[in-house]
Amino acid sequence: RILILDFGSQYTQLIARRVREIGVYCEIRPFDLTPSEISEFSPRGIILAGGPESVTELGSPRAPEGLFSLGIPVLGICYGMQTMAEELGGQVAACDKREFGYAQVRVTGDSKLLHDISDHITEGGERLLDVWMSHGDQVVAVPDGFEVLAGTGSAPIAAMQDESRGFYGVQFHPEVTHTLQGQRILSHFVLDICGCEALWTPSEIVDDAVDQIRAQVGSDKVLLGLSGGVDSSVTAALLHRAIGDQLTCVFVDNGLLRLNEGKQVMDMFARNMGVNVIHHNAEDRFLDLLKGVDDPEEKRRIIGNTFIDVFDEEAVTIRDVNWLAQGTIYPDVVESAKSRSGKATVIKSHHNVGGLPEKMKLSLVEPLRELFKDEVRRIGLELGLPYDMVYRHPFPGPGLGVRILGEVRKEYADMLREADAIFLEELHNYDWYHRTSQAFAVFLPVKSVGVVGDARRYEYVVALRAVETLDFMTARWAHLPYELLETVSSRIINEIPGISRVTYDVSSKPPATIEWE
Ligand code: XMP
Repeated sequence: RILILDFGSQYTQLIARRVREIGVYCEIRPFDLTPSEISEFSPRGIILAGGPESVTELGSPRAPEGLFSLGIPVLGICYGMQTMAEELGGQVAACDKREFGYAQVRVTGDSKLLHDISDHITEGGERLLDVWMSHGDQVVAVPDGFEVLAGTGSAPIAAMQDESRGFYGVQFHPEVTHTLQGQRILSHFVLDICGCEALWTPSEIVDDAVDQIRAQVGSDKVLLGLSGGVDSSVTAALLHRAIGDQLTCVFVDNGLLRLNEGKQVMDMFARNMGVNVIHHNAEDRFLDLLKGVDDPEEKRRIIGNTFIDVFDEEAVTIRDVNWLAQGTIYPDVVESAKSRSGKATVIKSHHNVGGLPEKMKLSLVEPLRELFKDEVRRIGLELGLPYDMVYRHPFPGPGLGVRILGEVRKEYADMLREADAIFLEELHNYDWYHRTSQAFAVFLPVKSVGVVGDARRYEYVVALRAVETLDFMTARWAHLPYELLETVSSRIINEIPGISRVTYDVSSKPPATIEWE
């Protein structure tokens, strides 16, 4: 396995995902790991990732002392290359101007790292690579024993190596797709140079996780809050594979779910797979508490707290449970590791079930803790969950509660559920569902005039929202075909009494958010 040391770059998680895509297990740790912690991890190779600071500044972070004498191959990327150069006796200096974006590097040396990799070959026989750069400093002198491997006009040392010791540095970012052959470069390092085998496949991950869960919980009983979202669904399927009937899931219906959500979860898990699922209908309780409340944050608070209360009450009725399972995934863990707050995990509020662990003396089991979202999806398929469940759009914990603007009422929720279901159904029909990242309908409690037959109708408005995004931090509104919008709009207006107008939201994020509240 591979150890990735994090110097604070936004790209570090991407490096880890790429290495795992190659089929090799890796973990991200902070840059100041001690040599004994590194030995304990026993990596086949180490990647020093990028970072926002400058090696030339006093007190900027460095790779752990002793790392370069462990006899383990090291690849430094961007800041990682600079700190490697600096620590081994080379020199780093600020560039005249920052280099950011696309660049072409000329490969000058021979190397296992860049073996057989070129994007263009010039008439003179030079190999050129298209890469992505983002740096303000650069290596200006390589350490003893190193040779220059590639350069650009403005950064003559864009890659370096000491092949005899297995040390490599690249100034560009192989982990981003703009570096066309970045994945091959990383795989040369991981497979050829470090000698790792590509064993980290979905079926291996499942087998491994099943063994670990069995070893961890033994014959104890485990409780899981199942929401129907990707993470909790895969957690349920995995635990069921590992421990069968020792698992009990609680599904809380808060009355703010999508159409037929509860039925689908019960069909899939209880009837199809034979998982123990308790379906708790708490619609009235949630809607009662939400009466007269129109502030979005207050609604979120009420829905979150009530979920915890209902889940807790249900849980204490189940006998002899020792473990609480949660669908925490690796990005949540890494985020909190970075903050160094001393806390091991930050649990997503939706998964957080309040005081239950202490009250019932439950320990946590988090079988997805080491997995990225794409790995969670792939093992979901491996466990037999349907593609549509595993690749479904995210759905916020407060559900329709924040998609009904202002006060939440059952009649609004019922109309919205129908409208949302029509929108999603047509997105599937037109083959657009998986081309958007998130799509849903929003209920606007304002009335507008419409005419049906001879009668004037004075009824509510539904807005449609569909976005494309990778990280949900920024998003572009999806350019859906007019025919699709036309079908959805006429179906909603014709099929749902009470709605006489449909609009499409053409705001991007920022400044608009994805949800309307
Ligand atoms: P915004 O609206 O902030 O949404 O652009 C970004 C992503 O977060 C989801 N979201 C939530 N998820 N509880 C959740 O579990 C919430 O209160 C919440 N608010 C927004 C939203 O659906 C989108 O995927």
